Amino acid sequence: SKKTLILAIESSCDETSAAVIENGRVIKSNIVASQIKSHMRFGGVVPEIASRHHVEQITQIIEESLAEAEVTLDDLDAIATTYGPGLVGALLIGISSAKALALASGKPLIAVNHMAGHIYANQLVEELSFPLMALVVSGGHTELVYMPEDGVFEIIGETRDDAAGEAYDKIGRILNLPYPGGKKMDELAHMGQDVYHFPRAMIREDNLDFSFSGLKSAVINHVHNAKQKGTEIVPEDLAASFQASVVEVLTTKTAKALEQYPVKQLVLAGGVAANKGLRTALGELMAEKYPSVRFSIPPLSLCGDNAAMIGAAAYTEYCKGHFASNDLNAVPGLEL
Ligand code: KG4
Ligand code: ZN
Repeated sequence: SKKTLILAIESSCDETSAAVIENGRVIKSNIVASQIKSHMRFGGVVPEIASRHHVEQITQIIEESLAEAEVTLDDLDAIATTYGPGLVGALLIGISSAKALALASGKPLIAVNHMAGHIYANQLVEELSFPLMALVVSGGHTELVYMPEDGVFEIIGETRDDAAGEAYDKIGRILNLPYPGGKKMDELAHMGQDVYHFPRAMIREDNLDFSFSGLKSAVINHVHNAKQKGTEIVPEDLAASFQASVVEVLTTKTAKALEQYPVKQLVLAGGVAANKGLRTALGELMAEKYPSVRFSIPPLSLCGDNAAMIGAAAYTEYCKGHFASNDLNAVPGLEL
């Protein structure tokens, strides 16, 4: 049987990555260079620094990915790149590299939506079954996505303000945790208790949307009040209380979505899919209430940004014959 090999490039934020993926399922290589250390002292991603690092790294990362997969440009069937959403300058580095390679090799170019990539990270674990529901939670997005079939996306619920990962990072900053605070908050949460019981915004509302800015303000107010009164803050309990609210809202709304849209599979996706509390709570929900719906989460190594997931999503576009032209541009606000 024919093997389709796609070289995929990802540079939308602070990871420079290139991967070679076979048939959208098998990782032949997946090289990820994280810039976190360079952005840490600024407490967030600095766009100009991100672009500069991408420029400096990308050629070598692509060469490494080809070498590790033991292929040359000639062996490839297509070259894929993320074209949005993300930082415009960062995106353009991956796009230009992909265009140059496509032009030089005569191979088709495939444009991939970064959020589709997060969802298709699950295809690197097992074949996806449609209709499918995805809970996508990252630093910039929190959305429930219904997929009636391969490559078709319908956003049925989304955050009206902050993304869940963004809220994690902002609270992490208040607690003086290194950027990005999400991972560390998750660790602290497991050492504390939900003693503060912060609000669960929109949880009973009859829609599939989210809101996390009120929760963020509640946590910030709590910290300010404690400082004013001179009372002690217990970071573990604060993290546990924050996480309990986020996880309960995400799982409750996912259950509501599953009632409205019967599906064969639920997938968790995005950087926040690495969250232990969320992985456990969703796993329990699915086992108790939806045992016949297949549930998958990417391994930790594929939750954060990487090119393997872009290669997985690109395969669907390849099979559908959806190719991009050489005037492909970055779309920073691209939606699914
Ligand atoms: O998908 P991603 O790598 O980048 C975007 O596309 O946004 O997601 C990054 C986000 C950050 O906000 C980070 O703090 C969060 O994912 N994150 C976590 C955990 N690991 C990463 N949030 C909560 N718990 C974690 N274990
Ligand atoms: Zn991402």
